[in-house]
Amino acid sequence: MPDTFLWGSASAAYQIEGAAQEAGKGISNWDEFVKIPGKTFKESTGEVAVDHYHRYKEDVALMAEMGLQTYRFSIAWARIFPKGHGEVNLEGVQFYTELIDECLKYGIEPMVTLYHWDIPQALVEEYGGWESPKVVEDFVHYATFLFNQFKGKVKYWITINEQNIFTTFGWLTAMHPPGKFDDEKMYYQVNHHVFLAHAKSVLAFKEIMPEGKIGASFAYSPSYALNSDPIHAMAKMDFDNLKNFWWMDVYAYGRYPKNAYHYLEQKGVAPIVTEADQTILKQAAALIDFMGVNYYQTSVAEYNPIDGVGPYGEMNTTGKKGTGQVTGIPGLYKNPTNTHLKTTDWDWVIDPSGLRYACKEITSRYDLPIVISENGLGAFDTLTDTQEIHDAYRIEYLSKHIEELMKASEEGCEIWAYCTWSFTDLLSWLNGYQKRYGFVYVDRDEVGGSLNRYKKDSYYWYKEVIETNGQSI
Ligand code: BG6
Repeated sequence: MPDTFLWGSASAAYQIEGAAQEAGKGISNWDEFVKIPGKTFKESTGEVAVDHYHRYKEDVALMAEMGLQTYRFSIAWARIFPKGHGEVNLEGVQFYTELIDECLKYGIEPMVTLYHWDIPQALVEEYGGWESPKVVEDFVHYATFLFNQFKGKVKYWITINEQNIFTTFGWLTAMHPPGKFDDEKMYYQVNHHVFLAHAKSVLAFKEIMPEGKIGASFAYSPSYALNSDPIHAMAKMDFDNLKNFWWMDVYAYGRYPKNAYHYLEQKGVAPIVTEADQTILKQAAALIDFMGVNYYQTSVAEYNPIDGVGPYGEMNTTGKKGTGQVTGIPGLYKNPTNTHLKTTDWDWVIDPSGLRYACKEITSRYDLPIVISENGLGAFDTLTDTQEIHDAYRIEYLSKHIEELMKASEEGCEIWAYCTWSFTDLLSWLNGYQKRYGFVYVDRDEVGGSLNRYKKDSYYWYKEVIETNGQSI
């Protein structure tokens, strides 16, 4: 990969920090949501998570020993502004300052995500959080505070993590806070507010740090038509417009895909977009530096008859293969499992070439550099009696994806960084602690554990990948 390329790994505040009610931090929507029985796997919470808040020095030292070049992490809004706005929590600012300094000490480039799904609960109570346009100014104020605070130290910034996922789970499937079900009208309006928060933050960023790099991270699932029957080709187009381009077009072009907007307008659920909004979205789109991509899997698009499957079905959160259900939009598309591919224990298809496909699609459609901000395998791991973790399956998964990434680079995609998900094991929002992603095993389950860290086989393997700049995969 090019000399400037960064080999990295990623995390999110709620999933690793713990110390949920310490050091002046305000309560977040997730701190509240996990208290609702049945919402998370075995009622798991991020109250302690993997205790990164207290062990960050140990974790960063492990990164340094591995040779990690960039570490992507998120800042918990409620640690900085416990009420979402107003008084700053200096202890929170100090924590992130120390974390960033710790990374810099070892030459690890910090990559900061402003929002990885945890909004201060106070804002939810005050005006409904993302449901109100008021959130835009509060978000921009929070973002601007951080830009000023960490200017000169942090070059790479991600505004919003997987807007498509947290809004879908929050307002359509009720699986994330605020737990609303099938509220399509609000879903699109919320998304519009998030787009504006992203866009206005980008504008503020470029005033403060013109030389910095900023973008959003999108959970991109490229799609394949079931076969060459035109009916499925159309299903693929509808899927892409509604499920992929709806977000990426706004980030990169500052406008919604027209056919999708028209469809939603007819349905009466399109967001209200003012001319002033359009201008802001366009201005920001012209300024973003990269497209952030969280890549896990591809989708198949098949025509879904009007009496076909609906958008809501069981999701596999237990790791018992085959328990996920096919969903879709009647009259447009559905997403059956790809029979050409293997799946993980959580029914996610394993498709390394999909990563290359994603990079090429973004390169031709948007002509933007790419940061792979997440990619990884969630799996059950076993700690042996001699405290080793033989995760050959993870090595195989990652090496095949890296191979495809390198091909994409050779084929003309400008890829700036590759962050695996994740560095240490962490809390999977809906799947508890048993779905592990890290290079570093953390001894804990849904109930608790020693929280000791152990290097997995993949840790040593990635160290070599970095050392050889991807030659040894
Ligand atoms: C992404 C998120 O959706 O995928 C992460 O940005 C998340 O926060 C990761 O943990 C893996 O998903 P899951 O559901 O397996 O934890």
